[in-house]
Amino acid sequence: MLRSKGPQGRHIARAAGLALVALAATSAHGAEAPAPAARHTVTFDRHSLIIDGKPTYLWSGSFHYWRLPSPDLWKDVLQKMKSAGFNAVEIYFDWGYHSPKRGVYDFTGIRDVDHLLDIAREVGIYVIARPGPYINAETDAGGFPGWLTTTGGTPRSTAPDYTAAYTDWMTEIDRILARHQVTDGRGTVLLCQVENEFYNDSDDGKKYMQALEDKARADGITVPLTGNHNTNFITGVGATEMPGYDSYPADFDCTRPERWNGIYDFASERQALTKTPLFFPEYQGGAFDVWGGPGYEACRKLTGPDFERVFYEATMASGSTMQNFYMTYGGINWGWLSSPGVYTSYDYGAAITASRQLTPKYDQQKLLGYMTRAVAPLARTDAVGSAVPDNRRLRVTARRNPEDGTRFYILRHAEAQDTTDDATHLKITLGKEGDTTIPQAPGTAIHINGRDSKVLLANYHFGGQNLAYSTSELMTQVRVGERDVAVLYGRHGEDGETVLRYAAKPDVRVIEGDVATHWDAASHTLRLNYRHDGLARVAITQNGTPLLLLLADNAAAVTFWQLDTKNGPVLVRGPYLARTGEQTTDQLTLSGDTDRAGDIEVFAPSAVRTVAWNGAPLATRATASASLLGHVDGPAPVTLPVLHDWHVADGAPELATAFDDHAWQSTDRTSTPNPYWNHTLPILDSDSYGFHHGNVWYRGHFKATGNETAIRLSASLGVHLGNHGIFTAWLNGHFLGNNPSGAQQFPIDPSWLKKDGDNVVAVLVDNHGHLQEEHTGTFREPRGLTAATLVGSQAPIRWKVQGNLGGEDLPDPMRGPFNAGGLYGERNGWHLPAFKDTRWATTTLPHATDKPGVDWYRTHFTLDLPAGQDVPIALRIHDAAPHHYRAIIFINGWQIGRYISDVGPQTDFELPAGLLNPHGDNTIAIAAWSTAQDGGLGEVSLVVQGNYRSALRAEPKGAP
Ligand code: GAL
Repeated sequence: MLRSKGPQGRHIARAAGLALVALAATSAHGAEAPAPAARHTVTFDRHSLIIDGKPTYLWSGSFHYWRLPSPDLWKDVLQKMKSAGFNAVEIYFDWGYHSPKRGVYDFTGIRDVDHLLDIAREVGIYVIARPGPYINAETDAGGFPGWLTTTGGTPRSTAPDYTAAYTDWMTEIDRILARHQVTDGRGTVLLCQVENEFYNDSDDGKKYMQALEDKARADGITVPLTGNHNTNFITGVGATEMPGYDSYPADFDCTRPERWNGIYDFASERQALTKTPLFFPEYQGGAFDVWGGPGYEACRKLTGPDFERVFYEATMASGSTMQNFYMTYGGINWGWLSSPGVYTSYDYGAAITASRQLTPKYDQQKLLGYMTRAVAPLARTDAVGSAVPDNRRLRVTARRNPEDGTRFYILRHAEAQDTTDDATHLKITLGKEGDTTIPQAPGTAIHINGRDSKVLLANYHFGGQNLAYSTSELMTQVRVGERDVAVLYGRHGEDGETVLRYAAKPDVRVIEGDVATHWDAASHTLRLNYRHDGLARVAITQNGTPLLLLLADNAAAVTFWQLDTKNGPVLVRGPYLARTGEQTTDQLTLSGDTDRAGDIEVFAPSAVRTVAWNGAPLATRATASASLLGHVDGPAPVTLPVLHDWHVADGAPELATAFDDHAWQSTDRTSTPNPYWNHTLPILDSDSYGFHHGNVWYRGHFKATGNETAIRLSASLGVHLGNHGIFTAWLNGHFLGNNPSGAQQFPIDPSWLKKDGDNVVAVLVDNHGHLQEEHTGTFREPRGLTAATLVGSQAPIRWKVQGNLGGEDLPDPMRGPFNAGGLYGERNGWHLPAFKDTRWATTTLPHATDKPGVDWYRTHFTLDLPAGQDVPIALRIHDAAPHHYRAIIFINGWQIGRYISDVGPQTDFELPAGLLNPHGDNTIAIAAWSTAQDGGLGEVSLVVQGNYRSALRAEPKGAP
């Protein structure tokens, strides 16, 4: 419950209803004047969230705007989520993404979270805000800004330096979040999470949590404050109002996607929570993959539709009514956003791919998400004693809504890993009849075939109907105009039995499919028996509201879309995606996407005579199901230009002895608040000199005695989940070698030395990002060189360091702190579209080189993609065999990928529309760092990842 002296006294109750539809209706996207504040209440009890008095099942997915640097595409992802039945999106706000320098905060362009929250309101989706200050999320320093590495004070504690730093961030972000809260009627921010998986429940940890909560309240955050700290901060100082559990039952090892762990039953946690619902702020929606990993299709398999059904329904069975899936859209670690260990794609094997395409996991989430929305009694259930299935390999959990008696039977294999096909009958409790064994039709059974799970309903009233039970699952039911329409589904080829109660024998018409009907006058029940095969349709009429039953197999069910318009819901069958619907009395306006030409069928009130699809009228005819059937076109084919003309230039002049480094910073610091600098002086750590992201060059000068036989270099590149940082070193322009981490002694050829002259050691260091954090300060582990000593002489080495242009003072704030590192080309704008490469040599790809160093490659191409199509495009690098090089890829100046030829696994790099110009000129620049004598750059091509005729519009916003 909200604390009694909390802000709920200011809430004004509204009549219960579809709060989200109301919110969407009262909002005007980007409007200067906020809509009149219609305030809402957000409370909860032990069963569920209660929004405006209405118990609400929360079905939410995670999305990170900072992993999709194209605001037009934010809307695409949120619409796709909303259309799949998600009523909420969970969003981390990344401190480091907004703050390149202490005191500098940027919330413009791709960082405009006001705009993001406006889009959420416009789309009509609630937001679970997670502003940190620490977020983890496999991002650099877990979301801490680079400059925080140069400060003192234990992170995630009450240390004054740390408190001063995060207070600024919280003030900035809370100011924006507060404007968009449900409770104030201006937006859809529904919950606000405090910290992230913080497990330090020492006195100081508690005080820190309490300070964060007090800060949120002081900043005007009035929605419930939540936690994902598992068993921590449930009571006492620092307790969050609504605690939550994070759960990743499949782990993150995608190399063995067939392997399943057992199911942990959260029933005892459910029992222990007396005032709050069982909330999963992060339930596994996929898995991150690591450098050298098996790739995201393996992660998508590990956490596939079968996993979703079995595990997500198991959490329903344990009584959870609040589930968020991490991730639903993962996106990309563009620039240097990733923490050590993970690569550019953060696809996560999620329901929606990094290229924004829908997968079978999305379909499965839609089936479940629609059910949680359609079946209101699911938000308040208690476990009830349950009849055992007659097949003991199966297990059933029963729940019941205490108010209306709706029953839920969640059926699966007793051993989650089991892959056998098992048939069973189930003894369930019905109203008048008492215990009934289902299915009743002779020779039929309920199956659990392999890794499957089913939620079966009994004694469920919807619209004007009374469902005794069904062995099919309910996808959705809606009142469309004057009739009820329900979609029930089952696995292809399996039996289905649906029993409805009527006062008197109804008129039953099988419109399509093979459905046997049986009226039992004694029990007043109508029994339908069928096999799930495509789509069967049955119209049932009696005195009350007529019912259209749509009996589908899974494949047919997922072709349905439910759109909740201001004037009631409609169902649409057919297209790849239905995004939005608006209804007047006689006109329905739809938008969506198609991946091919085909049918579109609309179930709308009978008064609707005309339908428009993506702005054009749709010719339709009435069907026997009293729906409207039309035809929609698919996308026109697309061909992409071949990238054959490239320009190339040497991009590592720093390695030459004569290179002028007089303007570089000297590494002359001898003190730092960072306790992690436990190396010799002076301090070499690149963060100490303001270079937090990307590659860094060092040049060390020494006067040779002539006796030097070797040089020993050590660097700190980040060791986590396998480390793929590297450095390469040269002495007076001669290649010494490379080292993938730690320390190495490189022999010196005496002929390379200039006795008594200026000798230069040049070292290029790959910074794979800052570690994530517990509460010890690991994110402050130094980056760059840590020590250098000559063997054979005592000659001191004077070091100079060079990183990204401007350090913390960004020359290109639009692209921001993570976009560019310290390569010569990055510092001189070679990645930018306006750079003139006409004087560079021409080449074709692949291009091999035996010279370690950095080469830049550039090319231009023009796109003229068909208007009204969404065509996700990737840049592919293909090496026939791995070579020793790593490439940084820029599209129109934006760094969208890092490729390591001899590590992998990523070869295709999304070029998000908006960064990519689909109707004009584009520039690719690739910096290829050859780390040994067999470098170069492989073949580079553009690939079409998908092709849709679409309502989406994503145009470039223009960048310097
Ligand atoms: C959680 C954490 C998330 C993310 C996830 C793994 O523990 O809260 O931020 O790191 O693990 O992807």
